[in-house]
Amino acid sequence: MDAQYWDEKYAGRDRLFSGAPNGVLVTEAADLPPGQALDVGCGEGADAVWLARRGWLVTAVDISRTALQRAAAAGADVADRVAWRRADLTAVPPPAGAFDLVSVQYFPLPRRPADTALRGLLAAVAPGGTLLVASHDPAELPPRHELGIDPNDYYQPADIAGVLGEEWRVLVEETRPRTAPAPAGTRHTRDTVLRARRLR
Ligand SMILES: C[S@@+](CC[C@H](N)C(=O)[O-])C[C@H]1O[C@@H](n2cnc3c(N)ncnc32)[C@H](O)[C@@H]1O
Repeated sequence: MDAQYWDEKYAGRDRLFSGAPNGVLVTEAADLPPGQALDVGCGEGADAVWLARRGWLVTAVDISRTALQRAAAAGADVADRVAWRRADLTAVPPPAGAFDLVSVQYFPLPRRPADTALRGLLAAVAPGGTLLVASHDPAELPPRHELGIDPNDYYQPADIAGVLGEEWRVLVEETRPRTAPAPAGTRHTRDTVLRARRLR
């Protein structure tokens, strides 16, 4: 799933996602004081725009140029509070300790030796900051032959929780019903959520 894969996926439809912020983000971030946020794999930008409208300064990163163009258009009213950035987050880590919130919503993060890309994302959370990860419930994922990828090649929230050391406190780790309809063409009914606070 490289840049070409994602650009073609976005180009195949006028709009891939609903345009509404993800339910997990809305539920979990509503009580956080605004600061610096990183939206990991921001797609068409609904989460980043929602955060910016609530006062956050957002760095929104995606590998797809097409997605970022749509996102910037959707967030024209908050252009001064969102930096849209094209990068491959599996290759280039975000700045360390820079973000009060790192939001990872349905981001396909491939497993790597020594967890390098994952550790780069974790390191981006500032002391006192929040890591929020939402994935589709792994139990609901279609089999490999339908999905075209092996879900086991990608981190699930439980894997990420397993990497967190003593400098983290896990606040939420659960699977729960989605609060929004499943993305078009999918049958997801549940989210798996990890929310953790970096203590130091
Ligand atoms: C399933 S979509 C989720 C988009 C958005 N977070 C949402 O929930 O609507 C995954 C997004 O991650 C982006 N992406 C995939 N691999 C990436 C990578 N290595 N670096 C940056 N973005 C990536 C894709 O282009 C896509 O927009």
